[in-house]
Formats: sequence, structure tokens, C-alpha cells
Amino acid sequence: MSKKASGFSHKLIETNVGLLIILSILVISFAGLVQIVPLFFQHSMTTPTEGVKPYEALRLVGRDIYIREGCVGCHSQQIRMLSHEVQRYGPYSLAGESSYEFPFLWGSKRTGPDLARVGQRYSDDWHRLHLRDPRMVVKESNMPAYPWLQHNTVEGTNVQTRMSRLRMLGVPYTDEEIQAAPEALKDKTEEDAVVAYLQGLGVAGREAAAKVVSEGVR
Ligand code: HEC
Repeated sequence: MSKKASGFSHKLIETNVGLLIILSILVISFAGLVQIVPLFFQHSMTTPTEGVKPYEALRLVGRDIYIREGCVGCHSQQIRMLSHEVQRYGPYSLAGESSYEFPFLWGSKRTGPDLARVGQRYSDDWHRLHLRDPRMVVKESNMPAYPWLQHNTVEGTNVQTRMSRLRMLGVPYTDEEIQAAPEALKDKTEEDAVVAYLQGLGVAGREAAAKVVSEGVR
């Protein structure tokens, strides 16, 4: 029944696991590169969205606490282009809004809501209560409480080192901003820092993103 397969046939590939793996890897790598490489040359992917600025000292420290406390394990920061997401969370996230994100906190798990545009949606006081005990403001919440943040100070954090390292990665901090950073942390608690961070999320790029969404282009 089986005619001898001539040359480079399907049968040869399908009956030779090593060859199948090598060829699969080749095909997937090529397809991946075709998708990824053009993004390096696309202006809207590589330049910061209009209005987006590097994190100020307090927000930068807040971001580190956000990472330390594992918030990213329950909250994404990435609004997809689906209409129900845009209706719920606001204009979808643009690549240029993440220009100064090292590392990205896009996340992949939504136990809680997406936070990409949570900035200015609630008052500072709401966030403080919510962080101390989420059940005080959202009865059915299963988010953990973070009561220690209000007691820990951020004074003396190595924020200057962090800012100059980020500058090496391309974040345009000026010498003056780095110099002034410790002053901005004076008398501030970890809770102040996290609230400042949350209140800035998605605000600067919102207008530009809304425009892109309404024009229907990317
Ligand atoms: C175990 C999962 C979990 C973790 C960890 C978690 N959250 Fe939440 N978060 C939730 C859930 C669920 C909600 C929705 C209920 C509520 O508002 O409390 C929520 C809601 C929120 C909201 C309100 C969002 C909105 O649009 O209404 C903010 C802000 C927030 N979380 C911030 C944080 C921060 C900051 C941290 C880390 C310090 C954190 N969360 C850690 C699960 C989590």
C-alpha cells in the first residue's frame, strides 16, 4: 500500500520526531519574527504617547510597592480593543503609554478590575480606606487589606539610584529631578506613594488614546 515516499515528503516529517520539532520551531520563529520585527520600526509603538511623562519620585516608589505587594497578580493594566472593555475601563491602552514602564505591569490575571485607567476615578480618601480594608468601601470585595502601608515611611528609599538606572534605560529624567527626589518623599508613607501611583494611572495618555479610539485607528 505504501508507495516509497520520494524526497522531502510529509510522511518523512511526520514519522521523524526530531525533524518535526526542528521544522516546527523554524516555522514558529519565522512567523513570530514577521509579527514582532515591524513593531520596532512603527512610530506609534516606539514613541511615548502625547502627554505621557516619566514617573515622579513618589509615584515611582509607589509603583515599586505595587510590585512588592503583588497587586499585579490580581490586576492587569492593559485595556484591550474589545468594545466591552472600552465601555467599562475607558479608551484602550496604547503601546506608547508604556514607554517608561520598566518592567511592564500589563499582567495577565484579572481577579480584580483592570487598573490601566483607574487614575482620578476615585478620591484619595477612597483609595486609603480601600487599601486599609477593602470591605469598608466595597462590601463584597475579596481583595486583601494592606493596613501596614499607612505606617511605613518611604523616606530614605534609594529613589535616586532607581531614577538614574531608569535614565540609563532611556527614561528622560533630568539631573534636577533626580536631585529633588528625596525631598518629595519627606514625611510620606507607603500608602501616600501607592495612592499617588494609582491616581496617575492612565490619566496622561487618556486624551490621546480617546482620540485614537474615536478615529478607529492605532
Ligand atoms: C487577591 C487579589 C487582589 C490583590 C492581590 C489586590 N487586589 Fe485590588 N482588587 C481585587 C478585587 C477582587 C477588586 C474588586 C473589589 C474591590 O473594589 O475591592 C479590587 C479592586 C481594586 C481597586 C478598585 C478598582 C476599580 O476600578 O474599582 C483598586 C484601585 C485596587 N484593587 C488596587 C489594588 C492594589 C494597589 C493592590 C496591591 C497593594 C491590590 N489591589 C491587590 C483583588 C485584588
